[in-house]
Amino acid sequence: MAGSISKFSKKLLPSLFCLIVVGFTPEASDVQSPSCSSNLREILPTPYSDLSGLACSLIWQQTFSLHFYQDDQNVTTLVLAGRHAYRWIGIGFSGDGKMVGSSAIVAWIERDGVSGLRQYYLEGKNMSRVIPDKGDLHFTSASPAVVVHGELLYIAFQLKFRTSLSHQPMLIAIGSGNPLRNGLLPKHVNSTTTHIEFSTGRVARQPMNPSDLRSYHGMAAVIGWGILTPAGLLIARYFRHVEPSWYYFHSSTQFAGFFIGIISISLGRNLYQRTNAAFLGHKFLGYTVFFLAGLEVFQFMGRPSRESIRRQYWNFVHYWVGRTAMVLGVSNVFVGFHGVDADQGLKICFFVAFVTLLIALIFFEGRMRRKNEIPKAIIDQPPVFRVAGQS
Ligand code: HEM
Ligand SMILES: *[C@@H]1O[C@H](CO)[C@@H](O)[C@H](O)[C@H]1NC(C)=O
Ligand SMILES: *[C@@H]1O[C@H](CO)[C@@H](O)[C@H](O)[C@H]1NC(C)=O
Ligand SMILES: *[C@@H]1O[C@H](CO)[C@@H](O)[C@H](O)[C@H]1NC(C)=O
Repeated sequence: MAGSISKFSKKLLPSLFCLIVVGFTPEASDVQSPSCSSNLREILPTPYSDLSGLACSLIWQQTFSLHFYQDDQNVTTLVLAGRHAYRWIGIGFSGDGKMVGSSAIVAWIERDGVSGLRQYYLEGKNMSRVIPDKGDLHFTSASPAVVVHGELLYIAFQLKFRTSLSHQPMLIAIGSGNPLRNGLLPKHVNSTTTHIEFSTGRVARQPMNPSDLRSYHGMAAVIGWGILTPAGLLIARYFRHVEPSWYYFHSSTQFAGFFIGIISISLGRNLYQRTNAAFLGHKFLGYTVFFLAGLEVFQFMGRPSRESIRRQYWNFVHYWVGRTAMVLGVSNVFVGFHGVDADQGLKICFFVAFVTLLIALIFFEGRMRRKNEIPKAIIDQPPVFRVAGQS
């Protein structure tokens, strides 16, 4: 069975690793023209950053992109992006596709770089009848955002509707003059009517909210780096006499620990992006642990043969990299708990596991020393994360 495990892991692990590496490389974003694949996470705050990868349409001959998401409370989140080449950009909700009788959100950037956003009621096709700060649209508590990024202007806002939107006529207009001091809007230089199928944005998956993300991240970190990895180490050090099952227990525990640990790192990375957390030490430690543990898992690729003189040095390095990764991993769980009001249950769970593992360590280490079974040399020790071939 050891053979089949190692064959399996030799094939699986590299492909898994490739997947992870691909997952970790940031998406390239095109700043020249609006696109539905631009990464809103790098541009806008929540809740707008969560619209990446959800429903999106290119409109008005692809000169604008509209990301949208409608939840089950009839709250619609929108991000309109277009070239930052006009004095104002407006987006209106219309009953019949006509301008008159609609309400629109208009955004602009002043000469000093300050952005503005205002609702207008389009009562008539005369400047005096396009009325600022009036209209049927209701903002939620999420404040709107107007952001210049490269050559594009992003207009993001969230509205609450009485009923759900389905096939909705939308107005887009661009103007060549900033709004006047009294709020009145100079007429557009160009305008269009388009239709957006909002129901396609409603079925989209709701992005995980940061507090769920934080608790899953903590849970995965505690299980992966805080419990499984150290437990696997204890198995390897104190149960080697139980041949050959110690090896299966050890390698599968380490593999599971590493895998769950990676999930925690991936969730943590997401969490940093979503909350703009400035928790640098924790992040740095986390990536260090990931890197060291990754080295351990893939150690079998460059391992010198058993007869080679280099093998002993290699084993020695391997031994210490593994243990360093484990100690840093456990420490980073403590760092993660420190300074945030983490879930109390998770803290207790980790603390109990930590104390249990510590007592087990002291007990087994003492017993081994009393029996004088201390391994002759450190280089005989099994590697912490070894999952393939014993020899
Ligand atoms: C002071 C502001 C505005 C004035 C004076 C104004 C005036 C007009 C006029 C005279 C027309 C008839 C077609 C033309 O001559 O171009 C028109 C059409 C249009 N306007 Fe406006 N407009 C204003 C603001 C807006 C805003 C903020 C929007 C949407 C965001 C908008 C969307 C449209 C659309 C889609 C049309 C074509 C469809 C229709 O005629 O109902 N307008 N506007
Ligand atoms: C439209 O506005 C102009 C001035 O901007 C005014 O002279 C004209 O009477 C207005 N027309 C209507 C129908 O309100
Ligand atoms: C959402 O809109 C639907 C009709 O489209 C309505 O039945 C429902 O009560 C609305 N829900 C909320 C929370 O406003
Ligand atoms: C208005 O937009 C249409 C479509 O994008 C374009 O063909 C037309 O030239 C534009 N007109 C002006 C005056 O900018």
